[in-house]
Amino acid sequence: MDAHKKLTIGLFGFGVVGEGLYKVLQQTSSLSAEIKKVCIKDPGKKRNAPDTLFTTDRDEILNDPEINVVVEVINETEPAYYIVSTALKNGKDVVSASKKMLAEHLPQLLKLQEETGRSLLYESSACASIPVIRNLEEYYDNDLLHGIKAIVNGSTNFILTKMFEDKLDFKSALLLAQQLGFAEADPALDVEGWDALNKWTLLLNHAYGIVTAPTNISFTGIQNIQLQDAVVAEEKHFSIKLVAQAQKLKNGGVAAFVMPQFVKQDDHLAFVKNEYNGVVIESGFADKQFFYGKGAGSFPTASAVLSDISALRYQYKYEYKKLYHHKPNVLSNDFHIKVYVSFNDWKHIPREKFESIDEWHADEDRKYLVGLLPFSELRENSWWKENNVSLILYPDPVVEDIDTRKLKKRSLELAGII
Ligand code: HSE
Repeated sequence: MDAHKKLTIGLFGFGVVGEGLYKVLQQTSSLSAEIKKVCIKDPGKKRNAPDTLFTTDRDEILNDPEINVVVEVINETEPAYYIVSTALKNGKDVVSASKKMLAEHLPQLLKLQEETGRSLLYESSACASIPVIRNLEEYYDNDLLHGIKAIVNGSTNFILTKMFEDKLDFKSALLLAQQLGFAEADPALDVEGWDALNKWTLLLNHAYGIVTAPTNISFTGIQNIQLQDAVVAEEKHFSIKLVAQAQKLKNGGVAAFVMPQFVKQDDHLAFVKNEYNGVVIESGFADKQFFYGKGAGSFPTASAVLSDISALRYQYKYEYKKLYHHKPNVLSNDFHIKVYVSFNDWKHIPREKFESIDEWHADEDRKYLVGLLPFSELRENSWWKENNVSLILYPDPVVEDIDTRKLKKRSLELAGII
């Protein structure tokens, strides 16, 4: 495709993102890209575009030799995979926003890109308007990327902001996120952390060359956070955010997880409110860099899709540098993690698993402790997500090099008090 060649687009999906892209393209004539057909599921719906543009037959796009770019922004995972893989096999370049599909099918999609030589771009699938994938891919060398932590889900950040700053209840905050088009069709994907997990799976590949099934990464969402947790956070001058984090360990592996986290007031992520996303990258010599922008919504997401379409004009492809041109990293669970855990009953908390308990507090109905757990405990067991237990990570939660004997002693002393 030369730089002057016209891009003829077949679009799948005309929801929040698809319609946004349609409008944005109408205002970007310089791009010389035109939507030829839009494939939709329900022909009965009233849409703000000419009827002749629409079809319900996906082959009308997939088999049209004139269409050289397929843009896929639908909700269903398996149909999205069929569309993306068939388009690549049919010699088309593809732009996709289906983060769940991309995360779950990443190994197959990597193979298909190699086999077909076509380009599959998906900048909009993580942090919407923030160009984080291309930055991780192009700018940061594997060895120098010490750590990355991010708010990657707009809806949960919106809900937490509305609940704890505007004192809205959870249900009203979620409803508002849905009305504004931030939430997934099934909002449990946002609230329970799945959406952030899928995005993190994709970003771990571009950051560290890690290819893993999403479920190999420990995660939870904001579903267990209690009002009392917010009170404790406020006392300690923290805010609560759903944070996705990855950090290089001394053993050469990478620690990675998606969990609620206490964030200090002077942390860049504390500044990220409502549907905004933020990414803090720590790299050798550069120290910290902070990326900030809207992480959900029609136009912010469409802006990233548009940027991918535009990149196709100069044959841009992800090279997956960290995976193919460096020694890729692997996930490691060999570290400790500092946690705050609140609960109703001690019987749900395996105290003996803690390496240390540094702080504890008991009210009649709600208790909490702050302590250090081997991370493998979170991988192997799920008490920390059940029975009304709420686990929130402490700032700088990854702990390597601990003096186990000293901590055990301190822990036993404290357990005696408890
Ligand atoms: N539901 C997603 C979010 C949409 O809230 O971040 C953008 O990916």
